[in-house]
Amino acid sequence: MTLLQPTPALSRSACALPRPSSSFVGRTGVIGHIATTVGHNRLVRLTGPAGIGKTRLAIEVAARLGPEFRDGASMADLAPVADGSRVGEAVSAALGIAPEPGREPVETLLGSLRERATLVVLDNCEHLPAAAAGLVARLLEGAPSVFVLATSQIPLMVPGEAVMRIPPMSQPGRPSSVDQALSFEAVDLFCARAAAAGDFVLAPETVPAVVEICRRLEGSGGRPRKGLRSLVVVMTGKALTRPQE
Ligand SMILES: Nc1ncnc2c1ncn2[C@@H]1O[C@H](COP(=O)(O)OP(=O)(O)O)[C@@H](O)[C@H]1O
Ligand SMILES: [Mg+2]
Repeated sequence: MTLLQPTPALSRSACALPRPSSSFVGRTGVIGHIATTVGHNRLVRLTGPAGIGKTRLAIEVAARLGPEFRDGASMADLAPVADGSRVGEAVSAALGIAPEPGREPVETLLGSLRERATLVVLDNCEHLPAAAAGLVARLLEGAPSVFVLATSQIPLMVPGEAVMRIPPMSQPGRPSSVDQALSFEAVDLFCARAAAAGDFVLAPETVPAVVEICRRLEGSGGRPRKGLRSLVVVMTGKALTRPQE
């Protein structure tokens, strides 16, 4: 998919995207779906509960689609922005657009993006939905070759907003062989992180416990619904004793 052909006059700037230190797991179908949706809509919002993978997916999609845009892809995280009036400034800073004395940051941002063909990821828009929506509306109107991939649990209510609800990672229904278990994204991710943290290798005898842990973690944003204590019980097969007991 080539969204916008490169022109020699405006060479693509480097992708200003975060580089996660951990490996990316699975999600092939979801990535393809998001990429296709971005190809047909200038505003796509990824939604779903915290921890479902919106930010990781947005970064991954932007990294893959960036080369299709003449001016690449970049990302601004709105989570640390304390005040809606600072959104323009924060996005400009993230995109490497220098402030201009005497000019509103959002005007500088628009002036800079007006001629650019680029994909802008706006992460955590639910933090400041009205301010984010206002900025997105102005970008879509004033910068005709800018595409926006937003993550937000709250609708932006901007005309043309395409919404994609991110599904949980695939899970095995019941314990299976090591190879079968690893073909499911949740198990693959668990094992990748456990291996990075220590010398964990999934074995036939640990498949049921790992599958159970993944089941309990599903949709919880990495925080087990029944608490860490119950996960340790699942992993060790033993009840925890308190230090003084
Ligand atoms: N496909 C994936 N591959 C590897 N790690 C992932 C993947 N999806 C999510 N994660 C990890 O799970 C955690 C939550 O994902 P994140 O994208 O931050 O969720 P959200 O933005 O929906 O709150 C993060 O530590 C992230 O790195
Ligand atoms: Mg996120």
